[in-house]
Amino acid sequence: MAGVIGGRMGSKKRAGDKMTSNEIREAYINFFVERGHKRIASASLAPENDPSVLFVCAGMQPLVPYLMGEPHPLGKRLVDCQKSLRTDDIDEVGDDIHLTFFEMLGNWSLGDYWKKEAVAYSYEFLTAVLGLDPKRLVVTCFAGEGGIPRDDETKEEWLSVGIPEERIFFLGKKHNWWGLPGNVGPCGPDTEMFYDMKPDEPLVHPEEDPERYWEIWNDVFMQYDMREDGTCEPLGNRNIDTGLGLERVSALMQGVPHVYESDLFAPIMGVIRANSSMRGEFAERVIADHYRAATFAIADGISPGNTGAPYVVRRLIRRGIRYAASIGMAEGGLIKVAEKVIDGYSHLYPELIENAEAIVGTLRDEEARFSRTLRRGEKEFASVAAACAESGGATIPGDAAFRLYDTYGFPIELTRELAAEQGMGVDEAGFAESYKSHQELSRRSAEGQFTSGLAEKTDATARLHTATHLLQRALRKVLGEGVSQKGSNITAERLRFDFSHPSKVGPEELRAVEGIVNGAIGMAYDVTMELMSPEDAKAGGAIGLFDGKYDDIVKVYAVGDFTKEICAGPHVANTSELGRFRIVKEEAVAAGIRRIKAVLEA
Ligand code: SER
Repeated sequence: MAGVIGGRMGSKKRAGDKMTSNEIREAYINFFVERGHKRIASASLAPENDPSVLFVCAGMQPLVPYLMGEPHPLGKRLVDCQKSLRTDDIDEVGDDIHLTFFEMLGNWSLGDYWKKEAVAYSYEFLTAVLGLDPKRLVVTCFAGEGGIPRDDETKEEWLSVGIPEERIFFLGKKHNWWGLPGNVGPCGPDTEMFYDMKPDEPLVHPEEDPERYWEIWNDVFMQYDMREDGTCEPLGNRNIDTGLGLERVSALMQGVPHVYESDLFAPIMGVIRANSSMRGEFAERVIADHYRAATFAIADGISPGNTGAPYVVRRLIRRGIRYAASIGMAEGGLIKVAEKVIDGYSHLYPELIENAEAIVGTLRDEEARFSRTLRRGEKEFASVAAACAESGGATIPGDAAFRLYDTYGFPIELTRELAAEQGMGVDEAGFAESYKSHQELSRRSAEGQFTSGLAEKTDATARLHTATHLLQRALRKVLGEGVSQKGSNITAERLRFDFSHPSKVGPEELRAVEGIVNGAIGMAYDVTMELMSPEDAKAGGAIGLFDGKYDDIVKVYAVGDFTKEICAGPHVANTSELGRFRIVKEEAVAAGIRRIKAVLEA
């Protein structure tokens, strides 16, 4: 392979020559290696020591320390292909070029070459190696803003390699400036390269028609350090950070109209179509993008969850599931999509095959959890929307959106999307309000639809409620799995727990139980809640009565990996809030039923 690609290097490609994505990736790496760059591996999508971002969203992110001046062990010239995930473009996904996950090819100068070389390399790679038509290239440069001067230097470099003046545009910070999300750290003006997809039409400003001008590459001239207070200091080193989108360039090189027909996506799209009973181009694209992204995220240890990056992964999967339902995808179809992703990329990203089981298992769980509620939630949405329309409204009320979220697991984005499809909006402020007051309710353990009829409206009951879960698990550990709940009563002062056990529980056993509960408190376990069917709860090892009295969907509270139990709540967020657990009494209630009273002490 390398030889074949090496053979291409010097020779100009003929118009119409196709290149596979593998060839493009290798050609890029080779081109820069031949120019003194050392290849570095892609970092994980999970940012290391960087709480400011949810995912690695650009090649520069894992390199920040080196961009700030720390010497890189491999020197001043680097090249890589970095896995990247961005959600800013999620609403654009489904058009010809926007994606959440993508591969970013990048070359790096850490205080080494500057604008002249960067522009010359970009131009040479695009025209001589890829053989793209120079007459279809359009570039933008920084117009100057906020005390930072216009970038005429870069314009001169573009003129000198042969880009005519009328194809060079200037734009402000919004377009031609790059820094990390959060606007701190290394940053600077950039120059972006576009390919004109309608070269026969009169030239217009590239930002006026992003469908026509595909942005393919961005060279960032990183020469500033943005401080938290908004001031910009020159960096000690002037660096080059570039990013070339592999999916877009693959589509260009393969002469296909959009990224989903490139060889990176075609096999995935094939699986989607083969497993669906209807065609739906938009749905197919969204599924392909979202499942590819989720597969890579899970491989890097980011599993679906309720906050932060895990929540994004959950959104991607749930949105995928919803679109799969809309084109009649067969059961198991989405798993085949993920398997195709694993299959197609493992030669480059072995973490996919190494974690294949976890990826498939996680997706399966998430699907099982969500698919069942999806239909019911959609029905609920339809009736809310109908009621809303009947009364002449065009906005889904916030409390209805919250119910969809809380009871049916609909991310607010999904409700927003369903509403938009009917030309409606969502009262998001109202949603946020309901969300907040729900949190407040849980926090203060107030009565209401989220409580299990507990009488007291205080934090103390939530703490004792969580302690009761710990107690039941500890009793099972000490006395055996024969222990099951026969009754529970909580006041602000104490818990009372009745359970099946044939004989008196001795002082040593009670001490052991106390020790286990206090151990779990000391572990500072997070308490999390998930909605699922009682069958799934049982299969997942949750404690419950399973006597057919549960609703179709139940709440399962997990205390770290210590215990899981079906319960209406409320609970504390973390066991570290509990204080010290002490058993004050053990007694008989009836034949085969014992009672423990216990307290939490500060
Ligand atoms: N950091 C720049 C970008 O993401 C170039 O790699 O576009």
